[in-house]
Amino acid sequence: MTHRIRIRHGWEVAEREVTDPELYLRRREFLGATGALAGGLVLGACGSSESEAAGAEGAPARRADLGPWDTDETPTSREDATRYNNFYEFGTGKEDPARNAGTLRTRPWSVAVEGEVARPGRVALEDLLKPHAREERIYRLRCVEAWSMVIPWLGIPLGEVLKRFEPTSKAKYVAFDTLLDPEQMPGQRRSVLDWPYREGLRLDEAMHPLSLLATGMYGEDLPNQNGAPLRLVVPWKYGFKSIKSIVRIRFTAEQPYTSWSYEAPSEYGFFANVNPEVDHPRWSQKRERRIGEFRKRPTLPFNGYAESVAPLYAGMDLRKHY
Ligand code: MTE
Repeated sequence: MTHRIRIRHGWEVAEREVTDPELYLRRREFLGATGALAGGLVLGACGSSESEAAGAEGAPARRADLGPWDTDETPTSREDATRYNNFYEFGTGKEDPARNAGTLRTRPWSVAVEGEVARPGRVALEDLLKPHAREERIYRLRCVEAWSMVIPWLGIPLGEVLKRFEPTSKAKYVAFDTLLDPEQMPGQRRSVLDWPYREGLRLDEAMHPLSLLATGMYGEDLPNQNGAPLRLVVPWKYGFKSIKSIVRIRFTAEQPYTSWSYEAPSEYGFFANVNPEVDHPRWSQKRERRIGEFRKRPTLPFNGYAESVAPLYAGMDLRKHY
């Protein structure tokens, strides 16, 4: 599968430098929507899936500027996505990270690569990213707390990065750690979790082309509160799997420690695939509140990515392996 990389037009870069990302995004959507109509017919409204032109057979046409993994749902406003966050290292309130994450120093930054790999070592962020072209991916994000967003990420496919370290035949899982430094992350002075925040994936999940190592969103570098300078985005899993501010990647033969599944094993599992049929013990997962919308919407199996990821779990009881 080849991915079109949309962060490439000189004019787009120039646009982003001078324009509010909010406007940049809407302009891009507008260009995409009109571009989808070969004749250049201008739509009355643009950007939302409802307003798309119908194809020749009456089937909805997909916007021409969308990559194969992108949702055509309207992105959440940048303001909401950068002010309503979960990042307990900066406090447990939703607006704490935006307020407090300024103490995080994201340069210089390096990532330790360890465990079952032929090429372990410490890699500077720049060297980690250099061989890869940054892509934009518009993904749904579904938090286990039953709210959701649509975010245009910038990042590189996780699998392509992992391959460079040459995992051995013993590597079955990959584990990720967030930075541990209470000076920079004052929330770590409180024992909310057994710090550092840790997450992990089965290696085949990590290699799936949807899994993204994100370095940006809304056409810009990640704000600290969203996990700068490097975070995971695994869109078919509850948001807590998408670990922020990563400093360590470790390949293991055994299932690794993961923060929430150890903190509250009856509430959060290792897999954490979005599943409307398996309720959280304290609330239903059938519906979700899309931030910025009034009415709740149904939650989709695997957060709408079932077609491409369900085969990863063939034969598994997803009620047991939640
Ligand atoms: N990563 C770290 N290190 N610490 C956290 O508290 N919260 C997780 C995840 N990654 C968290 C984290 C949860 S619960 C969610 S829903 C997402 O980040 C939220 O990402 P966002 O704030 O960018 O929307």
